[in-house]
This record gives sequence, structure tokens and C-alpha cells, in this order.
Amino acid sequence: MRRLLKWLGVVVAVLVGLVAVAVLFVAIASERRIDKTYDIAVAPLILPTDAASLAEGQRLATIRGCTECHGADLGGQAFIDEPMLATVHAANLTGGEGSATAGYAVEDWVRAIRHGIGADGRSLVIMPSYEFSGISDEQLGQLVAYLESVAPVNRDFPEPKFGLMGRTLFVAGQFPTLLPAEVVDHMAVAPASVPARASVEYGAYLAASCTGCHQANLGGGPIPGQPPDALPSADLTPSGHLSGWTLDGFVHTLRTGVTPEGKELDPAMMPWTLTREMTDVELEALWLYLSSLPPIASAQ
Ligand code: HEC
Ligand code: HEC
Repeated sequence: MRRLLKWLGVVVAVLVGLVAVAVLFVAIASERRIDKTYDIAVAPLILPTDAASLAEGQRLATIRGCTECHGADLGGQAFIDEPMLATVHAANLTGGEGSATAGYAVEDWVRAIRHGIGADGRSLVIMPSYEFSGISDEQLGQLVAYLESVAPVNRDFPEPKFGLMGRTLFVAGQFPTLLPAEVVDHMAVAPASVPARASVEYGAYLAASCTGCHQANLGGGPIPGQPPDALPSADLTPSGHLSGWTLDGFVHTLRTGVTPEGKELDPAMMPWTLTREMTDVELEALWLYLSSLPPIASAQ
């Protein structure tokens, strides 16, 4: 009996030791990636000052989803508050107290928005810069000029924190977009401007902001960072419902949240409150692009 207890003690000690080593490994492996700094030179960007450009910048902040995460007043808000996973706030982008961008030069805005890199050179967390790296210089200028003009909001947030479960999922590759600077192609050169036309090319340009939820091939599926039981996004290629829709039905869906089949889309899941601000030309371009995609049904 004594011997058995002794052996049991040894087994428990070994198990505890293994768990400790695993925890240490996860902590070190995640911290190395979180703390990695990036040194990226960005080309200068000229900010417009006319009222029409600022108004367009405001609209872009809506349709690109900035207000969805950073709040209608852009003063920031909680994004994930699950201590076991992570605690992350979308930053305060105004000039008020607690601002993350108060001392920003234009290059710092570009580095954060297009490359996902903060002022300290480390990757931002969650901020989906991989959707924004292709935004044209012209539109990025309008967006930043608008952001610099918004009313100050006083709202202070702590640094992002990561729980053991969040770190483990991250190290196991379950959250590939957690650190956007790891995902963005830093060598890609964004266009100076993209003509707003009802064309497949313009649709592809706009659809970048749908890929974060609808997947890179727009075939739909689980949304990164959401719990496994969350509503998956829909297939937007011709193997999905859209094959039976007309342009009018598509426009109606993205402006009202009601599909041609009469299904009501929850704006907290599918943000049609943002796509409803898109122009007729933008929606037609998206429609042309989505209709031109290869169907992905066989994969589902
Ligand atoms: C899916 C949610 C989401 C969307 C959409 C989003 N952001 Fe963010 N953004 C975040 C989060 C979360 C952070 C905080 C990252 C951190 O603390 O590391 C952030 C950080 C930033 C920062 C860096 C602030 C700093 O700490 O230096 C800037 C600038 C920024 N966002 C601008 C934008 C703009 C402009 C848009 C729209 C084009 C946008 N964001 C869209 C979630 C989002
Ligand atoms: C924040 C995540 C998110 C973003 C961003 C997003 N979607 Fe969605 N979308 C969803 C989800 C989730 C559904 C499924 C809703 C449901 O089943 O009720 C959906 C459904 C749809 C539908 C209905 C499809 C059907 O079969 O009924 C269309 C159309 C659509 N999205 C278009 C777009 C377009 C175009 C964009 C980019 C401009 C976009 N979505 C951006 C999450 C998103």
C-alpha cells in the first residue's frame, strides 16, 4: 500500500510538472509573438481638407466597419471581455483623454490601419488591418482626415490581456488573425485611387471588408474569434442563395436586412446597417464581383 501511494505521488508530480511545462511553453510562445516588433516604412499620405472629402471619410468609417468596433463616436469600446480568453478594447481614436492616437503622425495612422502595427511597433490585437491594407491612398487620406476631425471623447482603456485559454488557442493556430501584423502582406502596394464604377474590379476592392466574416473565398463559414456555436456567415458565391437573386434583391437585402426569401438578418451578426450606407454603384460592383466568383458548394 505504501509503495502504491509512493508511486501515485510520483505519477501526480510528473503530471503536475508536465502541465507546468506546457503552460510555460504556451506563455513563452505566445508572448514572443505578442511582443514582436515590426519596423515598416510607409509612404507619406496627403490628407485632404475640403468638406466633401471629410464627409466621404465619415461614410468610409461606417462602410468599412470602423464605427462598428470603435463605437459610433469612435471613442472605443470593449471588444472581448472573457478573462480566460482575452480582454481587448477597440481603441479610442478621438483626441480626448485615453486616446490611443493623440500623438499620431499621418504615418502612424497608415501603419496602424494598413499594417496593423501600433505606435510601439508591436502588432495591434484583433484590429482587422488585413481588410484595409488595399484601401487606396485617396480613400485612406479621406478616412484619416475625418478621424482627425472627430469630436474628442474621454474614455480610457487598459492594454490588451490574454488568458491561458486564449493563449493556448492562439499557439495551437486556432486564432490566426489575432495579431494582424502577422497576416498582412507588408510588401503589398495599395493603389493611389480606384475608380468608383459598377465593375468587377471595384467590387473586388470593396469585398475586402466582407472577407473577415465571409472567409477569403467568400464561401462563408465560421467567423474567426467567435465561439464554435455562433451563427456562421453565408456563402456569397453562386453556390449560395445569391444565385437565385437579382441585383435589386441584393441591394434590398444590404439596405434593409431582409433577403428575397424573406429572412431577416440580425444586424449584430450581418452588419447591414453598415452596407446600407453604400452607394448604388458600390452595391452593383459588389454584386458583379460576387456573381463572377467560382461556386464553392462542393466544399460545403
Ligand atoms: C473588428 C473590429 C475592428 C474594426 C472593424 C476596426 N478596428 Fe481598429 N482596432 C480594433 C481593436 C480591438 C483595436 C485595439 C488593438 C490593441 O489594443 O492592440 C484597434 C486599434 C486601432 C488603431 C490603433 C490604435 C493604437 O492603439 O495605436 C487604429 C488607428 C484603428 N484601430 C483604426 C481603425 C479604423 C480607421 C478602422 C476602419 C477602417 C478600424 N480601426 C476598424 C478593432 C477594430
Ligand atoms: C461581422 C461579420 C460580417 C461582415 C463584415 C459581413 N457579413 Fe454578410 N453575413 C454575416 C453573417 C453571420 C451572415 C449570416 C446571417 C444569417 O444567416 O442570418 C451574413 C449574411 C449575408 C448575406 C445573406 C446571404 C443569404 O444567403 O441569405 C449577404 C447578402 C451578405 N451577408 C453580404 C455581405 C457583404 C456584401 C458584406 C461586405 C460588404 C458582408 N456581408 C459583410 C456576417 C458578416
